[in-house]
Amino acid sequence: MRPYLLIKTELNSRKGRLVSELELTKKEQEMMDGKESVAAKKAMEILVALGKIFNAKRMVNINSTQISGVSYKNLGDAGVEFLKEFSESGAKVKIPATLNPSGMDLKSWREMGISEKFAKKQNELIKIFEKMGVTASCTCTPYLIGNVPKFQEHISWSESSAVSYANSVLGARTNRESGISALCSAITGVTPEYGYHLDENRTANFLVNVKTKLEKDSDFSALGYIVGKKVKNGVPYFRGIKNASLENLKFLGAAMAASGAVALYYVEGITPEAKKKNMLDENFEEIVIENLDEGYNALNSEVNEIDLVAIGCPHASFEELEQIEKILKGKKVKTKLWIMTSRKIKEIAEKKGLLQKIETSGARVFADTCMVVSPIEGLGFKTVATNSGKAAFYLPSYCGMKVRFGSLEKCINSAVTGKWN
Ligand code: F3S
Repeated sequence: MRPYLLIKTELNSRKGRLVSELELTKKEQEMMDGKESVAAKKAMEILVALGKIFNAKRMVNINSTQISGVSYKNLGDAGVEFLKEFSESGAKVKIPATLNPSGMDLKSWREMGISEKFAKKQNELIKIFEKMGVTASCTCTPYLIGNVPKFQEHISWSESSAVSYANSVLGARTNRESGISALCSAITGVTPEYGYHLDENRTANFLVNVKTKLEKDSDFSALGYIVGKKVKNGVPYFRGIKNASLENLKFLGAAMAASGAVALYYVEGITPEAKKKNMLDENFEEIVIENLDEGYNALNSEVNEIDLVAIGCPHASFEELEQIEKILKGKKVKTKLWIMTSRKIKEIAEKKGLLQKIETSGARVFADTCMVVSPIEGLGFKTVATNSGKAAFYLPSYCGMKVRFGSLEKCINSAVTGKWN
């Protein structure tokens, strides 16, 4: 029996035939009819189903994808089998596609304590993605290593922190995709045009008046946690933030995407769309932030003995590695200090001698993975300190960790002293 997606009204439209109200071009219809490959047909069917759910009128061409759902910890054997089958049915990406972090450092996994069995499965998954033509960048900050969408460019990204960064800081256009819908877009080169691809959905429905000083990355994380909880999947417009580095914005967006489902935000005078025009809706709700206590309290548990200090959620930039080195200043760590970054940034740091300086302290810089998607709960850790609101939000529920959340300086010092306080 033909799936319902293929029940279509044939009209001599200029662009091709109509599928319900969602109009496909001739090329898209051919993919849907299986003229390209079984995989492209499946991918179009999934995207059309998505488009119909959200009332999209057509597909829009995209120029890049970021695919999440890469860790064997999340996917398990069923995920490996699904992707293998998909790949064997002719799945090949048409546009640049990058991967989110995997469950381990693909080179130094033994040093992390990862088992042979896990590593074998993770490597198998990476090979499947590579066979489809996906670049195994294994980072949640593709925008720091060359996958940088242009202003107003349509893309299909599925890592929530990267989606937030792309929409808000770069002014690109993406919905919060799933790993599979982003992969389908990579194979077809299109995504249904709805949500944040359309101007009318990009206005802010919350005005967030920030009346407190934001000094550290963890302050931006705490603010993000509070606002995400309040606005859920709304679009906040921040007023009162005087300065924010790209790293600060990375932390803010990641925390809002975790505690809520924020995929787009504006900072008055700072983010590109908010600089061009007033992005506030006619009807908006106002939120006033007097202090960050709610965020710091919610993200901290009462624990002082720390097993692991984990930095780099989202993946650390080169500038953050420099900051870490400055705080360490040649001191030795007593507690394990893991810093997560992309392979490319790690290689640059190594070339410049920065990696060696950091690792002399006993800290380790790992690439391709992160503290949440690696199986740290099976590596003997029970307590983690981090400066990331997103990691502090997910580590308890996702990895069973007790968490301390604070500034980068406080985290690094706790690794040096072996205690949080
Ligand atoms: Fe990236 Fe992992 Fe955090 S994917 S945003 S480092 S939870």
